[in-house]
Amino acid sequence: MPIKTIIAPEEVRQTCLEWRINRSNVAFVPTMGALHDGHLQLVKEAKELAQKVVVSIFVNPLQFGPQEDFATYPRMLQIDREKLESVGADALFVPNAADMYPDGYQTYIYNNALADILCGRFRPGHFQGVLTIVAKLFHLVQPDVALFGKKDYQQFKMISKMNADLMFGINVRGIPTFRESDGLAMSSRNLRLSPEERQMAPSIYHAMQAVKAAYRAGETSRTRLEKLFAAELPPPFRLEYAEVRNQDDLLAPDDRIEKPAVILIAAHLGSVRLIDNLELSEP
Ligand code: PAF
Repeated sequence: MPIKTIIAPEEVRQTCLEWRINRSNVAFVPTMGALHDGHLQLVKEAKELAQKVVVSIFVNPLQFGPQEDFATYPRMLQIDREKLESVGADALFVPNAADMYPDGYQTYIYNNALADILCGRFRPGHFQGVLTIVAKLFHLVQPDVALFGKKDYQQFKMISKMNADLMFGINVRGIPTFRESDGLAMSSRNLRLSPEERQMAPSIYHAMQAVKAAYRAGETSRTRLEKLFAAELPPPFRLEYAEVRNQDDLLAPDDRIEKPAVILIAAHLGSVRLIDNLELSEP
């Protein structure tokens, strides 16, 4: 079935309202497009959870810094639409920036504790942009459930916290990272790796596995695990951070890890910034 494509914010609000009046649950998958199998997996899981599934595609200018890749971020709407039709999404919301942020726009959402750590340290304003757009999309769609990939672990945690703190009442779900067969986390930015960089990129996954194996073998010192992590990724990788954090609040454990922990990394390979993470206690 052709997917219903909606551009006007008020139309997506109205469509979702009518579905809810007709007793259909609504699941929501926000994206920036250039959809890969990981996104399609989110849509498939969304279909299991609700009668109607809305996907948004919006390359949100607010979450890109002035030196970042907003202009070159991959945009392929027609292909994305066909992919969404193939997995049976019901509506595609593709708003204009001028409708989402009209002249005179003034209101933003900021998380005081988490905005400036990990990725936030290197991308000032990024999470303010993410939380602001997601809050706006939540208000328009008013979904029962919203799905996010755990590849963007900090984003997922911050959206969950916003949902709780601002009482949206949405069931916010994190879905495990979808990986290529060689372990590379799926990402729209992988399209920009050169063939040589694409071959090297799975080293990030292997480094995380090495850290996890050391942890499982009894190494519980955060600093030693972080050193091992960094040593596994020599140049041409350029690390922004490679850290161990508590899974629940993303704070750094005291040196000895006692609560469920996650390792998180951001690294540049050529001109591409890659992020990934692994929960240490997961099988
Ligand atoms: O993860 C993304 O694609 C974006 O950050 C999101 C959540 C759609 C907000 O623009």
